[in-house]
Amino acid sequence: MKRVLFTILLLLPLVGFGQEANYDESKVPEFTLPDLLTLNNGQKVKNAKQWMELRRPEILEIFTTEMFGGRPEKPEGLHFKQIGQDEEVYGGLGIRRRIQVCLDNEEKHTFEVLIHFPKNHKRPCPIFIGLNFKDKNDETIALESGRRWPYELILNEGFAVATATRNSIEPDVRPEESKGDGVRAWYEQMYPGKYVWSAISAWSWGISRIADYVETAKELDASRMIVIGHSRLGKTALWTGANDLRFAMVVSNNSGCCGAAITRRAFGENFGIIGRSFPHWFVPNFYKYNDSNFPVDQNGLAALTAPRPLYIASASQDLWADPKGEWLCAKSVQSVYDLFGKKGLESSECIKPGERDDSGAVGYKIRIGEHNVYPEDWIAYMKFAKRNLKIK
Ligand code: GCU
Repeated sequence: MKRVLFTILLLLPLVGFGQEANYDESKVPEFTLPDLLTLNNGQKVKNAKQWMELRRPEILEIFTTEMFGGRPEKPEGLHFKQIGQDEEVYGGLGIRRRIQVCLDNEEKHTFEVLIHFPKNHKRPCPIFIGLNFKDKNDETIALESGRRWPYELILNEGFAVATATRNSIEPDVRPEESKGDGVRAWYEQMYPGKYVWSAISAWSWGISRIADYVETAKELDASRMIVIGHSRLGKTALWTGANDLRFAMVVSNNSGCCGAAITRRAFGENFGIIGRSFPHWFVPNFYKYNDSNFPVDQNGLAALTAPRPLYIASASQDLWADPKGEWLCAKSVQSVYDLFGKKGLESSECIKPGERDDSGAVGYKIRIGEHNVYPEDWIAYMKFAKRNLKIK
């Protein structure tokens, strides 16, 4: 019985409470992507400076007010406590550290971060930072290793990796199920009505607090922080990189609708479905839109990473996230990367499952298989990071 209920719950987003997802390529509507380089006043962006100073803030503002909401500054009482350290994990390959991020002086609002870094590092380590799907922030995150968090592999390549559970920052629950124990409720108490922000914004804000810690840790290289996320946390990774320029690279793994998938294709999950299934991921303005009238498309979100390296990855069976739409997103940030003289994708149409197109500053790949993150995905991200961030 429990199992049946669980399956129904899992399938609910797929049926979108009655709104169908399209999986038929012939039903993808004709569309033109809004031009990333046309300012709201109709003028054209001609160079990198105009992008950074004029157009980028406009697009950031659109995603802030119309999709995910704003993010508060870092809290005044922010401080960090080391609450544990294993000097040798994975046969002496790495060090595992547990950090408590204390958001206030009284330490009433905290979350825990698990960091692995190579034991024999010669200089500060480049670091991947991403949230995980575990419910409790304990040693079991480490045990998730092997698949989503292949620590040995990562450490062997000389990278550090930090993670925290999303629920310890902001619970991933609909408003009616909220117990008011996330950072959004806390900010609402402190500054009533000041912040309108979604859980995705809150998670991204939490990731920025982990970056604040990295800036204080001598073993870690704060100039080479890479934000990574899978699925809803891939949407979060894109949004984090958009807001926090300290991140030197962004990895979106199977982020799909409202992540890297082009909305106007209306393939797989769409605005109607996602908005109904996950109301806490969006601000109220989001509900003004359908698949064809958002002021920019998701290539606008992805382009906020420019000129920093950006990796967008799909999986062949993950039609819900629309691999072809994710490829199109990676392809169509090119006009922005061009302003910086940065190379994007080589392919002129979506590559085949199992292939990669990642020799530039924008990478795309489509793994054969299902919606997930695997060691082979990490291998591609680390290779891409090494080349683009000049890591020896
Ligand atoms: C659901 C949701 C997606 C999301 C995914 C996930 O399938 O519809 O938008 O990316 O969950 O986070 O696993």
